[in-house]
Amino acid sequence: MYRSLLFVPGDSDKKIAKSESIPADLIIFDLEDAVAAAARPEARIRVKNYLDARQDRSAALYVRINPLDTDDARKDLAVVMEGAPDGIVLPKAQAPDDIRTLEKLLDAAETKHGLEKSSTRILPVATEIPTALFTLGEYQHVADRLLGLTWGAEDLGASIGAMSKHGEASEWSDPFALARSLCLFAASAAGVQAIDTLYANFRDQEGLAASAARARRDGYTGKLAIHPDQVEIINAAFTPSTEEIDEARAIVDLFAANPDAGALSYNGRMVDMPHLVQAKKIISLAEKAR
Ligand code: COA
Ligand code: MG
Repeated sequence: MYRSLLFVPGDSDKKIAKSESIPADLIIFDLEDAVAAAARPEARIRVKNYLDARQDRSAALYVRINPLDTDDARKDLAVVMEGAPDGIVLPKAQAPDDIRTLEKLLDAAETKHGLEKSSTRILPVATEIPTALFTLGEYQHVADRLLGLTWGAEDLGASIGAMSKHGEASEWSDPFALARSLCLFAASAAGVQAIDTLYANFRDQEGLAASAARARRDGYTGKLAIHPDQVEIINAAFTPSTEEIDEARAIVDLFAANPDAGALSYNGRMVDMPHLVQAKKIISLAEKAR
């Protein structure tokens, strides 16, 4: 379970070097939107060399390639797969079929570079294209390599011509709230991690904390980050508190002590099967949070 997933532009030696000292659970070296087309050839090599050099992998190391319908995607893979990244982030995924296409490319690259078969995971950005929203339920059929599902608002907003992505308060406006919820349901249906999109205003730490808290409340277990200052806030938001863990253990114990009961009373509340499932999820989250 990865709480914080930090984007690091693939064209910046300085930021790549700095990524080592940031406590993100997962680092995403970007070759897409954060890198100008002319800088891409060099960025690919820079990322590949860094992957070669950084053997420790205390954080998982992923690379965001370009969309699959571009030549750049093939070029990205041709260079970075030699560095054995832990996974690939796929932007502008059109449909779950893209996962099958990428899987074939990864199969070939893994064979070529002597990597363990099917070891490279995939994290699609699943809501950047309007048509993609109508296929989200199908990710459950291509889940083998999926790390999780995440969603993006920037490109989606540009596609539909939205003047703003937010309502009166900082909450998402309806079209983006829908994409966010569909991503959550799709991830749950596929049995993979739901990862919330980034909070763009990286100087607003309170806003980020509130956004991460809402995501955790709704069932997301991690969040994208774009700036080092966001990482600890996100880690804290997705780490179950001692009180939550204590309560989850108490509910599990209560059901263990009453094996024939369907519904029980806990601190004046009714608890039944869904509460037991949720309590087990919190315990598993606490165990997996690193
Ligand atoms: N990864 C690693 N280091 C980063 C970083 C990142 N994503 N963002 C900033 N830093 C470093 C800076 O280089 C700077 O280092 P220094 O203290 O050694 O000088 C330090 O953290 C503080 O950065 P700051 O000055 O506050 O921000 P900035 O103006 O340099 O950068 C952004 C702002 C938005 C350009 C930068 O955070 C960034 O590149 N984010 C990622 C963008 C990206 O990948 N987008 C694609 C996904 S949408
Ligand atoms: Mg984008």
